Amino acid sequence: MQTVTSLDPLRSALEALRRDGTLALVPTMGALHEGHLALVRAARDRARHVIVSIFVNPRQFGVNEDLSRYPRQLERDSALLAAEGVSLLWAPSVEAMYPTGYGTEISVAGVSEGLCGAARPGHFDGVATVVAKLFNQVRPDTALFGEKDWQQLAVIRRMARDLDLVAPAADAIIGVATVREVDGLALSSRNAYLSPEQRAQAAALPREMDRAIAALRSGAEQAVVLAGLVGGLIAAGFASVDYAELREAESLAPATPLAAVPTRLFVAARIGGTRLIDNKPV
Ligand code: PAJ
Repeated sequence: MQTVTSLDPLRSALEALRRDGTLALVPTMGALHEGHLALVRAARDRARHVIVSIFVNPRQFGVNEDLSRYPRQLERDSALLAAEGVSLLWAPSVEAMYPTGYGTEISVAGVSEGLCGAARPGHFDGVATVVAKLFNQVRPDTALFGEKDWQQLAVIRRMARDLDLVAPAADAIIGVATVREVDGLALSSRNAYLSPEQRAQAAALPREMDRAIAALRSGAEQAVVLAGLVGGLIAAGFASVDYAELREAESLAPATPLAAVPTRLFVAARIGGTRLIDNKPV
């Protein structure tokens, strides 16, 4: 595996790889876990060469968020990726990504609004901007993202359609199912912030979501079910719930359980200072 940290060597390395076959890109912020590695393995099934980016993107963190303490462990990550057969690790510095005078931002209306977009103003602009840059830098045939961040995936697909991105095209952006711990908690780099007690309490998130989904399927009233979900999370030790909402899976428009299209339950909740998100099909 080659590791590259600036643009010129990236371009020459990619030229050589591209001559040899197709490229799949897996963008990450590092602190890799089995969820990230599931994306890498899915990428390997789809392309000759897998390129992984690791970049803790300052533009997607709010002023009071965890940018400075976000886990950084490039050496460990690099060993994990090499063992997975990754061809190239793209790990640019902030200066390489956003040189002095940088002034362009991409904002995707509609799917960026509500849910995490409401709770984290500007977050999806930062995501769309960095992912557009990564797509232009790498020009992969395919790019893979986790369904764990369902709204993010929707924003990126919308951006690819809206900007007529050819590499990867919107339909070459692949969603990969969420990887979970045995107790159901979705893997996340932010789980590392949890104390052992908080980690045990955090399992209430998927558990209460499953309970709510079962109630919705059996015809219980949505408002009552969602209030019960919030109450269940608080009783289990969560400090607050940013949102608990039913949305159409594709458009992310507010939904009812009786909608004709597939719907999903989306939740963001805080335990101590840590914000956890999850989503599941209804
Ligand atoms: P990060 O949180 O590092 O996640 C990188 C990719 O891994 C994302 O596509 C995310 O959805 C996926 N992922 C995270 N946890 C997962 C899990 N438990 N199961 C399956 N996939 C999972 O998301 C970002 O970074 C950034 O916003 C990024 C897209 C890299 C832009 O900066």
